[in-house]
Amino acid sequence: MSYLLRIDASASGDASISRQVADSFTTGWGGDIVRRDLALDPVGHLDTAGITARTIPADDHTPAQKAAAVLQDELVEEFLGAQAYLFAVPLYNYSMPSVFKAWLDQIMIVGRTIGVAGGAPSAGRPAVVVSARGGGYGPGAPQHGKDFLVPALRTILGDANLMSLDVRPITPELTYAPAMEPLRHLLPAHRACLEEAHAQARRQAAEITAVVAAGRPKLPGTR
Ligand SMILES: Cc1cc2nc3c(=O)[nH]c(=O)nc-3n(C[C@H](O)[C@H](O)[C@H](O)COP(=O)(O)O)c2cc1C
Repeated sequence: MSYLLRIDASASGDASISRQVADSFTTGWGGDIVRRDLALDPVGHLDTAGITARTIPADDHTPAQKAAAVLQDELVEEFLGAQAYLFAVPLYNYSMPSVFKAWLDQIMIVGRTIGVAGGAPSAGRPAVVVSARGGGYGPGAPQHGKDFLVPALRTILGDANLMSLDVRPITPELTYAPAMEPLRHLLPAHRACLEEAHAQARRQAAEITAVVAAGRPKLPGTR
């Protein structure tokens, strides 16, 4: 089965802008979807048993290593089974929500998802990253250069030596403008940015649906 893997990480439920923009994507998506909501159902942090389970032969696993390996197998299988990805990952403290980082730590495994001879199994697959943020981080904004989420995900998910995904960020900004008085003058900019984010999500859904349906793992213009 070919499917889109959607991962949610916002703790704000239906009020989450990242989720709402991701919904615009899934509304336009033409295939199956597997969802994992890390805010509702977080995966555990990678621990000693999880790390050692990766190198110690399965026959020698302790009960804790067995349990850790079962979780990693489930997450890796779910990740590698997808043909495209939708990550709804808001900006928390200039970085990614800890639930998303915990999930990444569980699936970034040398020899399985990264560092695989011949290239990553996920190479070239499209990955839309929807990341809402309260402030503004574009050129000229006081916070410009302080978004440590999208650049990190471009590396972790997109680097040719790692997941090698085709990372496509969508960043609805200034989500604090409606509620915070000092940002109220930025409300028109926020509204325009949000509208564009939904439009981008719909465009990406149509394009990626067509690419996956045609059985082409790579989008035009990618490596
Ligand atoms: C724990 C936490 C940390 C946050 N840190 C930042 C931040 O560093 N920079 C920022 O611009 N907004 C920050 N925000 C605001 C969120 O990015 C903003 O509310 C965004 O809309 C959240 O995405 P969501 O609507 O998808 O939940 C933070 C919000 C929370 C809950």
